[in-house]
Amino acid sequence: MLHRIDKTTVRNALQQAYECTRETNSGKNADYIPYLAKVPSELFGISACLPDGEVITVGDTDCAFGIESVSKVPTALLVMEQYGPQKVMNRIGADATGLPFNSIIAILLEKDHPSTPLVNAGAISACSMVKPVGDAEGKWKAIVDFIEGLAGSEVTLIDELYRSESATNFNNRSITWLLRNYNRIYDDPEMSLDLYTRQCSLGITARQLSILGATIAFGGRNPVTRKQIFRTELTPKIVSLMATVGFYEHTGDWLYTTGLPAKSGVGGGIVGVIPGVMGIASFAPPLDASGNSVKAQLALKFVMDRLNLNIFNPDRCITAVPESVA
Ligand code: DON
Repeated sequence: MLHRIDKTTVRNALQQAYECTRETNSGKNADYIPYLAKVPSELFGISACLPDGEVITVGDTDCAFGIESVSKVPTALLVMEQYGPQKVMNRIGADATGLPFNSIIAILLEKDHPSTPLVNAGAISACSMVKPVGDAEGKWKAIVDFIEGLAGSEVTLIDELYRSESATNFNNRSITWLLRNYNRIYDDPEMSLDLYTRQCSLGITARQLSILGATIAFGGRNPVTRKQIFRTELTPKIVSLMATVGFYEHTGDWLYTTGLPAKSGVGGGIVGVIPGVMGIASFAPPLDASGNSVKAQLALKFVMDRLNLNIFNPDRCITAVPESVA
């Protein structure tokens, strides 16, 4: 039997998750991109966006950080919206690689296929597909507008992060040209790589990420702005990708432990989607060895357990309703 939860219970769970996790000091900021190494390590926030658009927050939820790999989710959705999910499946794929996010060998093992838009290879390929093809500024505008539609407010490029990423993205350049060799890049390769690098360098807050997650959770309708951002039928497609590859080589461990389809980024952000229930996000810069935020993982796991939200549990809680109704 499914149970309902009220807002006070959600609020308390976020607060307790914050308190139980804030003292954790394991993990280390990403340092392969110089900008990320300098972000204050103690920043930590948790945010949940409910069906009526109320956003419940605790900690540093209004501080913008590098969206990084979480940006792979909106761009995958954008190309599904522009081309339909089947074409994205044919051109990129929907299979987990079981390998690190920046793996080159994964491309070779998958017989020249980028596998999924949620690893670097597939994300660069997705950027190359974004319409209008051949128009770098038009594509960039499409990506930013789409992210803003999902998040319900403006996102801005962190210039220093963009410069830092561009100066160090040699591995991604190798991926791009290898994919070009296999005809898996559908626009100018350098332009596609630059778009990917730029989208990773967008600043976003935990509050915005939770709204982005909620827009996915509620079938493409942003619960805050009430605008329809993408076709409802795409929610199960993108959530299935998040569930199968959102934490790269540790996705199975994560899903088994939490039952939360989610996507992480090396900026320290994680967004989770509980279809029909809520979008949830957490942010804290120190990462584990696979590049996933230590505190954000602990906080989200705490909330999933405390509120009984595991999507695979037949006895789970399903929705948060207004206090007056609860
Ligand atoms: O491609 C990169 O190296 C980064 N800009 C994004 C990587 C990332 O966030 C991986 N996720 N955990």
